Amino acid sequence: MAIALAYKSELTAHYWRGQPSTLGVSRVSATEDFFLSRCFLLPVLALAQRALLALGPLLVGLALMGMALTAPVMAADKLELSVDVSKAGAKIDRNIFGQFAEHLGHGVYDGIWVGPDSTIPNTRGIRNDVVAALKALKIPNVRWPGGCFADEYHWRNGVGPQRVVTLNPNWGGVIEPNTFGTHEFMDFLEQIGSEAYVSINVGSGTPREAAEWLEYMTAAQPTTLAKERAANDHPAPYKVGYLGIGNESWGCGGNMTPDYYLSQLKIYSRFVRDFNPAPQGKQQMRKIAVGPGGDGPEWTEWTEVIMKAYQHHEWSWDIKGLSMHSYTVVRWPPSFASVGFGETEYSQILKSTLEMEGLISKHSAIMDRYDPQKKVALVVDEWGAWYAPLPGSNAGFLVQQNSLRDAILAALNLNIFARHADRVRGANIAQMVNVLQAMIMTDKEKMVLTPTYYVFKMYAPFHDATFVPVVFDAGTYTHGNIRLPRVDALAAKDTAGKLWLAITNLDPNQPIEIEASLASITAKSAVGEALTAPKVDSVNTFDSPLTVVPKPISATVQGGKLALKLEPKSVTVISVEQ
Ligand code: AHR
Repeated sequence: MAIALAYKSELTAHYWRGQPSTLGVSRVSATEDFFLSRCFLLPVLALAQRALLALGPLLVGLALMGMALTAPVMAADKLELSVDVSKAGAKIDRNIFGQFAEHLGHGVYDGIWVGPDSTIPNTRGIRNDVVAALKALKIPNVRWPGGCFADEYHWRNGVGPQRVVTLNPNWGGVIEPNTFGTHEFMDFLEQIGSEAYVSINVGSGTPREAAEWLEYMTAAQPTTLAKERAANDHPAPYKVGYLGIGNESWGCGGNMTPDYYLSQLKIYSRFVRDFNPAPQGKQQMRKIAVGPGGDGPEWTEWTEVIMKAYQHHEWSWDIKGLSMHSYTVVRWPPSFASVGFGETEYSQILKSTLEMEGLISKHSAIMDRYDPQKKVALVVDEWGAWYAPLPGSNAGFLVQQNSLRDAILAALNLNIFARHADRVRGANIAQMVNVLQAMIMTDKEKMVLTPTYYVFKMYAPFHDATFVPVVFDAGTYTHGNIRLPRVDALAAKDTAGKLWLAITNLDPNQPIEIEASLASITAKSAVGEALTAPKVDSVNTFDSPLTVVPKPISATVQGGKLALKLEPKSVTVISVEQ
């Protein structure tokens, strides 16, 4: 635990000085190839696993092993898949498509905010091109202002006509002008049509500071703070959908023990109130506690402590979510290149990203013990690929390229979240613009959409759709000693009842024919889009922005069976017309 916790503060400290960390600590422990390559055999397997959890871990292990051993591995280039629309599961909460915008590098400044006097077209200082692109993603919520930044953020510096200029010690030690503050964030959300997920400062702030910020944002009555908000051009109270109570309080948020954090959580949960009377019921602000950052004993202990306390919580405090952070990094400090890599690094990163499945299962199982009704959501509010900084960039700005590999990685993680829809009801990819696995990259007036952007766009029909189990044999893609499922698939019925399928072919070399039998539906036709590119490390650049973009594909439907071909290393999303 000490080592795993240590790396973050060390890493942070080194970024402050603009140097890479020298620690070589793996954040997520390796899961055995054998299990991994089969945990995608059948999403039904995941359902069975959850049912068996009630009977105890031993039974689960035996059952999984037994099923995996008896399931045939498909070697042929044809994959049979079956979907029975009558077997619908949980709602895939649209909040799993959330985003994260931290004051870090060019994530906010330049990426979103250019200021009203900029020559870059903007609306009240916010870039028009970025807003238009993000609007198309139908982003449910944006987490802000951090990240590690949140635990050093003092909201008063970012409101009113005179902004206090500070530093950003976490990320490069650069000047923080505070020109993008509460009002600018809320304006940005209004422009893109999204909701606020505000992370309050538990590390270096006080309950009073956080409580006053919430009063400033949400009070409808004419309190002094509400009047100040009105004087700053916003008489109506803002809506805050989600409240993050601290960030990584086990690391950059204050290096707290679970018990110490729990005592802070209770205080902040009690006194930091949403005063906006408009949102009622499920629309009311949801408080999210800091949760685990990995799968080792220190992390399961963290989840245990918070959830055990939750089980016996009194009226005076409450949470609706437990956060979890997990990056695909393989080893610390992040050393994988984000561009100019080959099949080995491609398969290593995908293997690592699939560990998200085990991580979620592990923490969900603990949560199930204390919260069998699943009232508390698991919110994976930082996830994505974290690679070595691009050569020549400021190491504290976390700048990396975004390739076809990242698109596939995004699809695999979204599928995992959807398969756990009953518990995972929120997720925020890190981060939105210019930082880590971004949707968008900008350079002054230029903007380019990344492969990950297109996956989020293609998956929009899955927002609030109903999960439908897909039965298939994933087969195996092998590279060296790495074995991965060859195919992953997700099915869901959208809010209008239309069936959608998302199928990812992880194999970078072989196409695969899909034959899907569709039960309880009269399928007439199917249309969709596929995202692929010449190479696993293909990227979109400012000069060549269309290398990795989705292209229309057609599927044939005959006798209730749907047939289509998946290109190697591709993500395909199709809808079935009835
Ligand atoms: O996303 C970058 C950083 O990663 C965040 O600030 C922190 O919460 C996490 O460790």
